[in-house]
Amino acid sequence: MRIEIEGGANLCGKVTIPGDKSISHRVAIVSSLARGMSEVSGFSTATDCLRTIDCLKQLGVDIEFQKSSVLIDGRGDRGLVPPNGALDAGNSGTTMRLLAGALAAEPFTSRITGDESLLTRPMMRIIEPLRLMGAKIKSEDREGHPPLEISGGNLRGIVFTPSIPSAQVKSAILLAGMRANGKTIVRESIKTRDHTERLLSYTGISITREEESIILEPGIPQAKNLKIPGDFSSAAFLVAAALICPDSEVRIERVSLNPTRTGFIRIVREMGADIETNTRRNLWEPEGDLIARTSELNSIEIGKKEVSQAIDEIPLVALLACMARGKTVIRGARELRVKESDRISGTAKGLLQMGASVEEHDDGMDIYGPCKLNGASVSSQNDHRLALLFAVAGLAASGKTSVEGWEWTKISFPDFEAVIEELKR
Ligand code: S3P
Repeated sequence: MRIEIEGGANLCGKVTIPGDKSISHRVAIVSSLARGMSEVSGFSTATDCLRTIDCLKQLGVDIEFQKSSVLIDGRGDRGLVPPNGALDAGNSGTTMRLLAGALAAEPFTSRITGDESLLTRPMMRIIEPLRLMGAKIKSEDREGHPPLEISGGNLRGIVFTPSIPSAQVKSAILLAGMRANGKTIVRESIKTRDHTERLLSYTGISITREEESIILEPGIPQAKNLKIPGDFSSAAFLVAAALICPDSEVRIERVSLNPTRTGFIRIVREMGADIETNTRRNLWEPEGDLIARTSELNSIEIGKKEVSQAIDEIPLVALLACMARGKTVIRGARELRVKESDRISGTAKGLLQMGASVEEHDDGMDIYGPCKLNGASVSSQNDHRLALLFAVAGLAASGKTSVEGWEWTKISFPDFEAVIEELKR
């Protein structure tokens, strides 16, 4: 499905956006493993999170969607039940990797599969540590790609240092460690998003951080009523649009402002972006409002550390760099090649078609600005974040932009068009 975007937009007003996708996955899984009933508001409407819910239902968890909340009846001491058939994670790497961690502790065999994109994504990064903990995991092609067959139970805690900074790997190990014998320690030299740690601690699990080590004691979480803040990664598209569309000011309310997620704000502020944040008090995850205004931008150089705290927003940094004065250098971003699509090549390809000056590197891009983007016909590469990226580029470009594969935006931000219409009025 194609969408046509008219360029030269001005965006003004205030909006709220659906709940954070990363946090929603974790809340669904941890609440399912908890003792008691959790009432969750602000749960994401993204297809990825609904995949996690469907898998958990297949594992015996009673989950009920009400008007403005989701009720999750935690299995606690009862444990999950063997599924009838394969669990389908769809397009969602987070569903597959985090569920694999939870299933590694269950004394039965399960199979997780996914769509064409997910079947090409690397899983050795979770298979290795979960095997070290005692789970039996088979990758169907033996090269670490899904489908995965997991026979779990009787785990032991480990000390593990993932070879790449990854919150998904860390979370898979912690979810398994929660039901292992003995302590589990995960070491990360570059801090990745810490939603799992915050949620486990809030639900009563003993988990502490000492410098680079996250130390977890086994336990069963206690159900809590939780309110999930708006998705920062979705908000980032609106922030970027406000920065590059003329005469714009956009306010996004009640967004997750967890510092391990807001690397994008730090990067673009350094580029000269006019962004205000005001953090509200929250018991569990920081949240607040974001205000972004049209800005004159300058180039920037970023490496592995900045990239890992803005991993999903790097394509947006590349777009902003097209409008910025000077040469922007992005390195240490090889992970982008193994996301839902190869996001380095997909970003470079689309931006080049729109008239940008972009050089692709193995682990990043060089972008020369400022340049004027022209409307073009571009492909999302069947990747939700690239579809949204080119829609934002199209709003600031001259003429019409047509984005192929628009249906993929349901994966993370189904309301994007409605939100933009609200801001155009
Ligand atoms: C996520 C972590 C990131 C991110 C993904 C969601 C998560 O992946 O790209 O969209 O919810 O933990 P990695 O941790 O593998 O970098």
